[in-house]
Amino acid sequence: MLVIANQKGGVGKTTTAINLGTALAAVGEPTLLIDIDPQGNASTGLGIPRSERKLPTYDVLMGQAKLADAIVPTRIPKLSLVPSTVDLSGAELELIDLERRNNRLKDALAEYSAHGSSQFSYVLIDCPPSLTLLTVNAMVAADSVVVPLQCEFFALEGLSQLLKTIDLVRANLNASLEIQGIVLTMFDKRNKLSDQVAADVRENMGTMVYNTVIPRNVRISEAPSHGLPALVYDLRCPGSQAYIKLAGELIQRERMRAAA
Ligand SMILES: Nc1ncnc2c1ncn2[C@@H]1O[C@H](COP(=O)(O)OP(=O)(O)OP(=O)(O)O)[C@@H](O)[C@H]1O
Ligand SMILES: [Mg+2]
Repeated sequence: MLVIANQKGGVGKTTTAINLGTALAAVGEPTLLIDIDPQGNASTGLGIPRSERKLPTYDVLMGQAKLADAIVPTRIPKLSLVPSTVDLSGAELELIDLERRNNRLKDALAEYSAHGSSQFSYVLIDCPPSLTLLTVNAMVAADSVVVPLQCEFFALEGLSQLLKTIDLVRANLNASLEIQGIVLTMFDKRNKLSDQVAADVRENMGTMVYNTVIPRNVRISEAPSHGLPALVYDLRCPGSQAYIKLAGELIQRERMRAAA
């Protein structure tokens, strides 16, 4: 179970969640994407209209729906989704008064695997650009974090705050939370700054950074408006190819983790 997180907005969390999810499903791994962002971009990007979001993540967190009932199929075989609606923006406040407010998603997933047949090899959680209760719920439920990092000047500064939060979650709520990896996104090879930032991040974070770099690619940004993952919209574009490579690295790392 992987959480895609970075409190910085627009760094490629949702794009990574959708396209990793699609790549994992495409190699035959049944995958569930949970949209825990009130913006609902992962749900929209997968072509699930608002009218079809009857039992969204909000209801699951509030204990008003079972996870099993909230899961909807997508157009991608083997890729399922728990959609989100704007109700979730109120959940931050409403959760404060509930029991086990940090564990709501974890509990829902535990109940699901206790009753269901645990049919997913991978669960990906797409987070909002914040480090508040929704993201904490995702980090408590997950085994590890995938951090998309945009190749721009302040990338490392935002990262240290995220790492602090991960440490806090580890210390208090989920001792086994790991960082699966950091993925450099929107890399622009014509821009010197991109190169510098990438080198800088690799120097500081070492092997935590995936070898695969996601290039800035207009086809990737066009895909969501068609309700399709880039991988389906244009499989051959450089962005899609990069996400396929990233999925390979991620699977490799998961296998190593499982074997350790
Ligand atoms: N590799 C890329 N090349 C070009 N455009 C991209 C790429 N990755 C993401 N984008 C575009 O950048 C914008 C932000 O990406 P995305 O929505 O994935 O970020 P996010 O981190 O989920 O944002 P938020 O914090 O608002 O949830 C989107 O319009 C997306 O289509
Ligand atoms: Mg997003």
